Amino acid sequence: MSRTYLDLIKRKRDGAVLTRTEIEHLVQAIADGAVPDYQIGALLMAMYIRGLSAEETLDLTLAMVASGDTVDLSKVDGFKADKHSTGGVGDKVTLVLGPLVAAAGIKFPKLSGRGLAHTGGTLDKLEAIPGMRVNLTLDEFVDQVKRIGIAVTGQTLELVPADGIIYGLRDQTGTVDSKPLIASSVMSKKIAAGADGILLDVKCGRGAFMQTLDDAVGLATQMVEIGTAAGKVTRAVVTSMDEPLGLAVGNALEVKEAVETLQGVGPEDLREEVLFLGSLILVMAGMASDEGAGRAILQPLLESGTAFETLCRMVSAQGGDVRVIEDPNRLPRATRIIQVEATADGFVHGVDALEIGAVAMELGAGRRAKDEPVAAEAGVMIRAKPGGGSIHRGELLAELHVATGREADIRPADLEVRARQAFEMGPSAPARRHPVLATVP
Ligand code: URA
Repeated sequence: MSRTYLDLIKRKRDGAVLTRTEIEHLVQAIADGAVPDYQIGALLMAMYIRGLSAEETLDLTLAMVASGDTVDLSKVDGFKADKHSTGGVGDKVTLVLGPLVAAAGIKFPKLSGRGLAHTGGTLDKLEAIPGMRVNLTLDEFVDQVKRIGIAVTGQTLELVPADGIIYGLRDQTGTVDSKPLIASSVMSKKIAAGADGILLDVKCGRGAFMQTLDDAVGLATQMVEIGTAAGKVTRAVVTSMDEPLGLAVGNALEVKEAVETLQGVGPEDLREEVLFLGSLILVMAGMASDEGAGRAILQPLLESGTAFETLCRMVSAQGGDVRVIEDPNRLPRATRIIQVEATADGFVHGVDALEIGAVAMELGAGRRAKDEPVAAEAGVMIRAKPGGGSIHRGELLAELHVATGREADIRPADLEVRARQAFEMGPSAPARRHPVLATVP
């Protein structure tokens, strides 16, 4: 049997295009545990180096979808929208966008993940709310979306088991950052999750997988092609991840900022990004003719508190303590906060998202090892960003919120230096930048 796989590996190594039947056969065998890890690793390296044609990428994606369960949302009326971010720092978009579009009548069934390396995960953020359940059964999930239009939970079904195996091996074989492999991995899970429309938020910049606009647009294009070919309404935006999104990085801090944004007082870049993405979802659903029309529907829902009420309903339905959403000062709070001050006068030109994400992780907001618990109260509050006016020596750049009980092993003085160095300063005000860099198509 493994002879067949060896022939396929050699063909891919030599630059051949694999047929749909060959790809289906391979992926099913991988999901069944019939292909040894060393052969999967060799195949991935051949794919990484030789690349995959658009057709091979689609065949790989659909074969991965077929390797496990899929979510059946046919009993949920209306347009079901899903959104996926390729991962960023301070990215609490789901917590604001979901309730906002649900308040406009979109159904928002969302399977989310946990933080990875320096990037945060929606499930960890939601768990900062005491009592919040993120392990809904499939029946609970579908029922909640029917009743209140939104549910955000972790994955309980075995969706795309082939991706679980392949992703684990990519991590160990230097084959993570391949566009067709990322595209098939992300899109197989989105297609299996069953929504009608998929909006992809491809992060671009220092704190993201894709460092250049060309690469980010390339990945977005491949993902949109796959989604469209699979019969989903699919669009992508490329958004900046040079700097963290908003001001809060860390689980409870981000929930608080999401609540503030839903109450109309959040940071400008987060609000802009959410309104842009939300408008696109309304256009995808046929509820708005263009981005401007979408905004005109969404903005009043933020201002009237309707979107915020939708978040409260979701939190309550999932067992969370709504009092902490109504008064975010009741969220878990750090007792030790380190102030990071400017050492010279000037303007903030950049805040290195990768470094701030790494500092937040060290403070306890993320996992240094796979199963490490995260501290809800830990993270970084940024106090100065580009576009925010001049800063004088001694003024606050950021606050570091230290995980309670972990003060001894985090070396706060080192983190303070690293956080300060993450701020790039200049003598004059920088040009304003919009967080959305491109849309596809
Ligand atoms: N996220 C995924 O799910 N897969 C990848 O390959 C990269 C990011």
